[in-house]
Amino acid sequence: MFAEMFAQLGAMPNPISNDEYLARQNKLCQTLDDNDLLILCSSPVTIHSNDVHHPYRTQSNLLYMTGWIEPDAVFCFTNNDGDWESHLFVQPKDTLKEIWEGRRPGLEGAVANWPIDFAHSIDDLENVLSEMIAKSSRVMHRMGIMTKVDDLVVDAIKKQDRARQRLGSGPISVEDMSNRIAEMRLIKSDAEIAQMKFASDVSSLAHIAAMRHGGGDSSTENQLQSLIEGFFRYAGTSGWSYPSIVGSGENATILHYKENNSPCKDGDIVLIDAGAEFRGYAADITRSWPTNGIFTEPQKELYQIVLDSQIAAINECVPGNPYTAPHEAARRVLAEGLIRLGIIDQSLDDALDLENGQLKNWYMHNTSHWIGLDVHDVGVYLPNGEPRTLQPGMCLTIEPGLYFGAWRPDVDCPQRYSNIGIRIEDDVLIGENGPIVLTERCPKTIAEIESIVGKSN
Ligand code: GLY
Ligand code: MN
Ligand code: MN
Repeated sequence: MFAEMFAQLGAMPNPISNDEYLARQNKLCQTLDDNDLLILCSSPVTIHSNDVHHPYRTQSNLLYMTGWIEPDAVFCFTNNDGDWESHLFVQPKDTLKEIWEGRRPGLEGAVANWPIDFAHSIDDLENVLSEMIAKSSRVMHRMGIMTKVDDLVVDAIKKQDRARQRLGSGPISVEDMSNRIAEMRLIKSDAEIAQMKFASDVSSLAHIAAMRHGGGDSSTENQLQSLIEGFFRYAGTSGWSYPSIVGSGENATILHYKENNSPCKDGDIVLIDAGAEFRGYAADITRSWPTNGIFTEPQKELYQIVLDSQIAAINECVPGNPYTAPHEAARRVLAEGLIRLGIIDQSLDDALDLENGQLKNWYMHNTSHWIGLDVHDVGVYLPNGEPRTLQPGMCLTIEPGLYFGAWRPDVDCPQRYSNIGIRIEDDVLIGENGPIVLTERCPKTIAEIESIVGKSN
């Protein structure tokens, strides 16, 4: 069923190379002092029920520095007479466990194929890591991810408090280094962009698969979700990068609608916010379209305003602009449109006012977030209280919307626009010469959508 879509997908990009991981590690080390110990932990395995686990996804910082995706892993940097050495604690080879759970690279595999100097068994974590901690004067570690490492760090500091009094050595502080890694992750390399482009292409084609299915009132939200997520896996990604939102009719006016189980009604808009994850990198796309393939006049009016606002926001994605420029452009176009339709009866300036403006009745969220290894990616938006300046290599979403929930008691929803929810979301790379829309393969004009929805053959 997906073969035709799959044929349109380009080849998978090469994975991130070990040289690139080593360059990242090197850059991070340059921010450390010689007596620091840096620790990055994997996420815990979480239980669905009994011996059934939730799908495993490691911490993005560990992934960013090593590419290691298995659970029960701890990465460290120690300094040996001025030279930084990397260590990875991993699950050791264990035939019985591997029969049940799958093959493991083990210590030898880790050293041979991953960008690390030394591998240790996770079973030796306590002994080996305690020694590393004792030798350091500052531990760069984020608490709250792996309890056993937190305990070792806290214990060592307590013990070394006494040792320091006698010997003048031992760790005296713990510092979270996440912000330093976030600064690095904010600017994407060419190899990262290639992974994101693949995730974006798969996601775009998945949205097209759902549009083609369309179906008037013969389809359900869950069927559309299954097409989208089915294609994510068919195309070789690990699946969704966040739980898909598939809401039709009034459900399209609920920003993070989760149930995805209602029938689509003829004449309603369905809003689908869904993106794939590929080698850890996210795509995040929203499209909103009439389930019967033809926009009504009121739907068209709102849709075109959202689309115009999205294009205006994308045009602000240029180096040197403040991070807030796209949001401001989107808000302005949305407010102008709603004034034109008579939905807002304030001046433009008043409509945009964050306290008393009417725009926030219908557009109540931000236009952008960073995107990368996390769908809501790391990176401070307002360093020192000022919006960050956009630079080449940054990636952000542009996702304005309008939501006319007739069920809401807090607003008087105009009857003509009752229960229309529209969001249009693309992922944009700040290019040297302007915006590059990574999700450009996903159709979004009214004419494109009307020519695709329901045209499965
Ligand atoms: N998919 C969640 C968001 O758009 O931010
Ligand atoms: Mn989204
Ligand atoms: Mn988003």
